Parts: sequence; structure tokens; C-alpha cells
Amino acid sequence: MPSESRRVTVELAERSYPVHIGSGVRQALPGIVGRLGARKAVVVTARHEAEVPDPGVPYTVVPAQDGEAAKTLATVGELCRRFVDSGLTRSDVVVSCGGGTTTDTVGLAAALYHRGIPVIHLPTSLLAQVDASVGGKTAVNLPEGKNLVGTYWQPSAVLCDLDYLDTLPEREWLNGYGELARCHFIGAPGLNGRPLLDQIAASVSLKAWIVSADERDAGVRHLLNYGHTLGHALERATGFALRHGEGVAIGTVFAGRLAGELGRIGPARVAEHHDVVTSYRLPATLPAGVDDRELIALMRLDKKATTGLGFVLDGPAGPALVRDVPEHVVASALASMPRD
Ligand code: GLY
Repeated sequence: MPSESRRVTVELAERSYPVHIGSGVRQALPGIVGRLGARKAVVVTARHEAEVPDPGVPYTVVPAQDGEAAKTLATVGELCRRFVDSGLTRSDVVVSCGGGTTTDTVGLAAALYHRGIPVIHLPTSLLAQVDASVGGKTAVNLPEGKNLVGTYWQPSAVLCDLDYLDTLPEREWLNGYGELARCHFIGAPGLNGRPLLDQIAASVSLKAWIVSADERDAGVRHLLNYGHTLGHALERATGFALRHGEGVAIGTVFAGRLAGELGRIGPARVAEHHDVVTSYRLPATLPAGVDDRELIALMRLDKKATTGLGFVLDGPAGPALVRDVPEHVVASALASMPRD
């Protein structure tokens, strides 16, 4: 393993697994495949196949497509058919290399194929490294909405190789920064300005702790959705013109204002939400043309909101899921938001 690397363990008893973070950590792939005892592998990659190390066992390469349009049940079905073509069995392994769409679709295909085969993720975007590849959530979209069909399927290992980020476009950086900014309010403050390796490791450590405590999203794992209720609504209201991390950034500013409206935090902490988000050069204003009533209707569809409107909000005892927030308070916090 390269010297400047970190190892975080997601503790889940016999399903515990390591997350390696650093430049060059992808080179650990053959060792991990060897320890799993796999006889063959399928490598599903959205990057050039030369960017994935030889897994050390006979393997087949399947090209993948990143991007929301590929996050479908059809993609998962196609992947499973390629696993059949390759003669993959439960004692083999699937390797994913790509952004969040690839880790989600490959993770879901691995969970379903033969009722579950091992998967190793090599996330290549900042968003996938700090969040999507860790914790075992896999899902695809339906025409009716985002992430509506999925399951939990923990990987056997995650290799967050910083070298994959060298060619990341600016908007992809912003996409990941949105998740790093929200870390400030859920247990990993003051990350901005620290070396990228430390920021990714801090986000992964926080997530590993939360997933170990609540794998199935029944309690503390809700905290990871800080800023996401409005964020998801904005993604949908803008037809996904806003990227996930950008929506989460605006949603984080809003979460501060809503917590302020509810008297859970004071004005300085409300302002801190804006300051942290803008320190990452992330958007902090509602985009022009979005309708507040539509946003509220979309926020009612949030998976956390089994009844009424639910938000993860900061408060005197730290962040918590607050259910049944009155609509007029939500409307007032929205009205107070700066707009483009
Ligand atoms: N991305 C939120 C979670 O994994 O729970």
C-alpha cells in the first residue's frame, strides 16, 4: 500500500470490510481478490480498461456508462446477463470502476445475481469516494423517481484511488464537495482547507461509523441525508440540471435557515451553513424559476418523511431527524432563501 494512504474499516461483524484511500491504492486489487479466493472476475468499468489493475485471476471486462440515464433496471439486467456469459459463480467476484451510477448499478447487480456475489468498488469520482461507494446502499431510478428500487449489499472492499480524480471536471468536484460540506454539520467539522486525502478519509470514517451503528437506515444513518430533502427536490424540479452535490449544498443552507426558524439554532450557526457551503464555491441560492409550492410537494415524497415533512436539522443536542415540520414554517424558511 502507498505510504500516504489511509485505511478505514466498516465494522459489520463477519461482513466488515476495508476502505483504502490514497494515490495508487487501486494496486491492492489483486491481493484483495486473492484473499477472497475468487477464481474469476468480471470488471465493469466506466473508465478505460487500462485504468483498472489486473485482478490477478482470469477476467472479463464489461464497459459501463456513468450518468443518471444509465441508472436503470435495464442496466442491471444487462450486467447480470454479462455475468452469466462470463460463467460467474458465487465464489467469484465483480469489480466496479466508475462514478456513483456504476457503483450503484454494479452493486445492485452483484446483490441480485445468484442471490448475491462479492463486489469490490473502485470509485472514480469524488462523490463516489466520499459517499456512494461506502455503506452498501445500491439503487436505480424508475421513471417515477430517483433511487426507488434497490437493496443493501455491502462490498468486500473499496479502493478510493486519488489518482482517478486527476481528470475530474469542475462540476464533478462540486458534486463531491456538496457531500463534504454537509459533513461539517454531522460530525466532521472544519474539513475545507485540509489535504484532499484527509477530507475523503474523514468523510469515509464518519460514514463507516454511522453505517456500523445503523446499516439499514432506521436511525442515525438519516444524518447522512443532511441537506438532502431540499437537495433531492431541487434536482427533480430542475430536471437534474442541478447536480446532486449542488442540490445538497443549497439544501444545507436551507437546513440552517429552517433550524433557525424552528428556534433550534441561533443566527451565527444559521450563517455558518451559508459560509461553509460557499467556502467550497458551491451554490447557496435557489435557482431562478423554481416554484416553492412544487418544492414542498416534492419534499413530501422524501423517503424519510413517512408522514408530513421531515428534515435532518441541527439543534442544541446536535443534528437529528425532525418529523412533521409544519408546512408554513418550511414555506417561510424557503421564502427567506437567497435566489438567483
Ligand atoms: N448516501 C446516504 C447513505 O448512504 O445512507
